[in-house]
Amino acid sequence: MKKTIRFKTLGSTHDYAKKNAGKYPDGTVIVAGRQTAGRGRFDRKWHSPAGGLYFSVILEPRGLRPADTQLLTFAMALAVASAVENAAGISPALKWPNDVMVSVKRDDKIAAARQHSAAARRKYKKIAGILTECSISKNEVERVVISAGINVNNRIPVPLAGIAVSASGIAGRTLDGEKILDAVIENFEKSYSAFSLSRILKEYKKKSMLVGKKICFVSGTDEYCGTVKGFDDSGAIILALNDGSVKTFHGGEVTL
Ligand code: BTN
Repeated sequence: MKKTIRFKTLGSTHDYAKKNAGKYPDGTVIVAGRQTAGRGRFDRKWHSPAGGLYFSVILEPRGLRPADTQLLTFAMALAVASAVENAAGISPALKWPNDVMVSVKRDDKIAAARQHSAAARRKYKKIAGILTECSISKNEVERVVISAGINVNNRIPVPLAGIAVSASGIAGRTLDGEKILDAVIENFEKSYSAFSLSRILKEYKKKSMLVGKKICFVSGTDEYCGTVKGFDDSGAIILALNDGSVKTFHGGEVTL
């Protein structure tokens, strides 16, 4: 990426990047030490104290079809997972479409009740999330802002402790956030410049925590339950529903 702009504090790197994209060249990375209005998908708040990594990449991809932007989210999720894996010695799994998760030991009543199996006493917690938004002109993607929030050295507040985890919490030591950022950008850049749909999809499927699993899926006001078969060429999730039919979803949320 060509240029990195750093802020001590920003409302949201994502919103800043969207608003100011025209001022910066393709490939600019906006980084903030903390955010006061960090947000995720569905406008959910993204807790962003100092110690975490918060950044957005401004891209002007030539000839990218709007349907393929999901693949950029996958490429960033893979880039983050690999950087976290190298830095903290853990192997994250990906939860469609934008979550980077880590399997940790449960330490609650459920764990106590599930003495029969070690696997059942584990659960996934979120270590990072990706947010991708684009502007479209004449059915081509004009500009994309692709952002990531990674729990590196930030403390996870008690209300989020059941669903989120930090890389340092797992590694048991403070990690070098700058090194992780460099690695993420390098990984992403490689994948973006090669931009091979089939390769990204293959890697994503390999790292997915959902393929072959029974899940429920909320799309709008409807819920569908079934087994995840995989992802189509645009990154949509394919579910074999419990009634025997197969359905493909481009948006929505997985509940486990
Ligand atoms: C999600 O899991 O829903 C996506 C979270 C994305 C958070 C990052 S932090 C940097 C950038 N700025 C924001 O306000 N959001 C993204």
